[in-house]
Amino acid sequence: MRKIGVLTSGGDAPGMNAAIRAVVRYGIYNSINVLGINNGYRGLVDGDSLEMNLSSVADIIHRGGTFLGSARSEEFQKEEGFKQALRNIKYLGIDGLITIGGDGTFKGALELSKAGVPVIGIPGTIDNDLAYTQYTLGFFTALSTVLESVEKIRDTSSSHSRTNVIEVMGRNCGDIALYAGLAGGAEMVIIPEVEYNMDEICDKIMQGRARGKKHSIIILAEGAGDAKSLSELIESKTGITTRYSVLGYTQRGGTPSAFDRLIGSQMGAKAVELLKNGIKNRVLGVKGNEIFDMDMEEALKIEKKFDETTYELTKILSI
Ligand code: F6P
Repeated sequence: MRKIGVLTSGGDAPGMNAAIRAVVRYGIYNSINVLGINNGYRGLVDGDSLEMNLSSVADIIHRGGTFLGSARSEEFQKEEGFKQALRNIKYLGIDGLITIGGDGTFKGALELSKAGVPVIGIPGTIDNDLAYTQYTLGFFTALSTVLESVEKIRDTSSSHSRTNVIEVMGRNCGDIALYAGLAGGAEMVIIPEVEYNMDEICDKIMQGRARGKKHSIIILAEGAGDAKSLSELIESKTGITTRYSVLGYTQRGGTPSAFDRLIGSQMGAKAVELLKNGIKNRVLGVKGNEIFDMDMEEALKIEKKFDETTYELTKILSI
């Protein structure tokens, strides 16, 4: 393994920079050259890359986003674009590739591995929607960002005795909403994994009111509905003024948490270590305090299980 390429693809996530830094520094420590690919798979198609040295990754461990840039490349998904990417991998002398991203990134990586490119995937997405790993890079930072907003909105919700609906990201996965609901003490979470009942929601708001609760915070996962229509419906059914906030892209940026920097660094180094030892086509994950690796194709087949225990606990504690 003489030269490794590294790219970030799909939605960016805090902690990606820590992972890139670890790939570069651990690679150089092991006498492996590292090539940064700009803007994800688009950069592979365009042959857009830069040689990395120790100082290319100085001062980035604490920064959100990804300094290599990211994209969702349509070209790469087409036959000609894919072939061009393969030609560029050969031309650039890349012996192994480390891809940092989510589900879509791994699907692209799998295709490359089937075409003979040794690949290792690092899970980086705020959504936490990859079934094989307990946590993905960026998830906990996004969660903290959501919690900051929940706390601020709760202040004003109490002052005005309102109901506030807060819409969070996560695509089809409810983890951001669910964990933020538990950690933020929300009155309710609405997630795609569980069908919701409007009457139940409104009854709960009214019961809280009767007990003297001044605010009601409802955290809605984007995959379960839209905040505007939900809040209008709640207001019309309960008669309580209901406002909504869509947190949007604030959740994708910001200083990565300690946890995301740690697992980013550990996974970056492990990805290089695997390639160095001739191990390929694996994805990395987190289980308990351990970073583990498993077959990429097998990992992608696993379906995400709904975390019913956390959901039930959130419900019990939000009475
Ligand atoms: O996958 C991360 C994510 O932020 C999702 O939560 C969200 O649905 C999506 O990306 C937004 O995608 P884009 O950056 O293309 O608008």
